Amino acid sequence: MEIRKAVLPVAGLGTRFLPATKAQPKEMLPIVDKPLVQYAVEEVESSGIPIAVFVTGRGKDAIEDHFDVSFELEHMLAGRGKEQMLNQVRSISKLVQMIYVRQKNPLGLGHAILVAKDLVGDEPFAVLLSDDIIDAQVPCLKQMMNVFAQYRGSVVAIQRVERKAVSSYGIIKGQPVKDHRAGNRLFRITDMVEKPQPGEAPSNLAIIGRYILTPAIFKELASTPRGAGSEIQLTDALRRLLQKEPVYGYLFEGKRYDAGDKLGFLQATVEMALKRPELGAPFRKYLKSLKI
Ligand code: G1P
Repeated sequence: MEIRKAVLPVAGLGTRFLPATKAQPKEMLPIVDKPLVQYAVEEVESSGIPIAVFVTGRGKDAIEDHFDVSFELEHMLAGRGKEQMLNQVRSISKLVQMIYVRQKNPLGLGHAILVAKDLVGDEPFAVLLSDDIIDAQVPCLKQMMNVFAQYRGSVVAIQRVERKAVSSYGIIKGQPVKDHRAGNRLFRITDMVEKPQPGEAPSNLAIIGRYILTPAIFKELASTPRGAGSEIQLTDALRRLLQKEPVYGYLFEGKRYDAGDKLGFLQATVEMALKRPELGAPFRKYLKSLKI
C-alpha cells in the first residue's frame, strides 16, 4: 500500500490576501522567491511521492505554467550563459508528474478532495494544503507515511494550538497510542469537529494541512452534508470514517507556518530569509538595526 499520489487543493479564492490575489492565485505568492505551492510540491517530491493531483479552479492557470517547461525563458537563460538559473528553472518542471482537474463549484475542502476521486482511484493517498508550510528535517508527509506503513489507517497531522485559536481549525479528540513505535506522538482519534468555539472544543489538538487518507474517505465524502461555512468539510467525512476504521492524529516534528494568514506569512518570510545562505547574514544585520 504505497502512497503514489498527493492531492493539492488549490481552487480557493484567497480573499485574505486581497488585493494581491485579485488577478493571481494565492498559491503563487512567494516566500522570499519561491511560490507557496512550490514548497508543497517539493515536500511531495522529497517524501518520495511521484504524482501530484492539483484540484484547481478559474484564475489558477499560473500554477500550471509554473510547473511546466518555459521554452522561451530557458532559451534566453541558456543564450546568456546563466547556467545556475537555467538549472533552477528546469528543475521545477521535473519535480513530479502533475495532473490537473477543476473544481467547478467552491463547495469546500471535502468537495475538492471528492473531485480528485477518479484520478486517485482505489488506493491510499496524501493531501497537502499549501497554506501550511512545514520546515522539518524529515518531510512532514514522509513522517506520516511512516506511521501509515505501520498502522494502516488514515493519518492527519496535528499540532497543539492556543485555546483561543481552536475556531480556526479542525480539532480532534484522541487517545494516546501506547506503543514504543508511536513515541508519544500518535493518537487514535475518537471524535473530531471542524472549527469549534473554544468552549466546545474537545482538546487543543488542531489538524494541520497534511493528511494520509484511505480511499474509503471518498464514500464518506459523497454522503457528507454541508457543514461549517456551508461547505463540505473533510473533517466531517473523517468523523464518519472513524466509526468504520481507525483514524490517527500524529504530532509531527518540525515547524509549521500558517502562510494563509498575514502574520504567519510574514513569520515564514522572515525565518526562511534568515536561513538563506546568501541573504541570512545581511538580513539579520538589517533586522538588528531596526530599533524595535
Ligand atoms: C482546513 C481544514 C481544517 C484544518 C486547516 C489546517 O481549514 O478544514 O480542519 O485545521 O485546514 O490549515 P482552512 O484553513 O482551509 O479553513
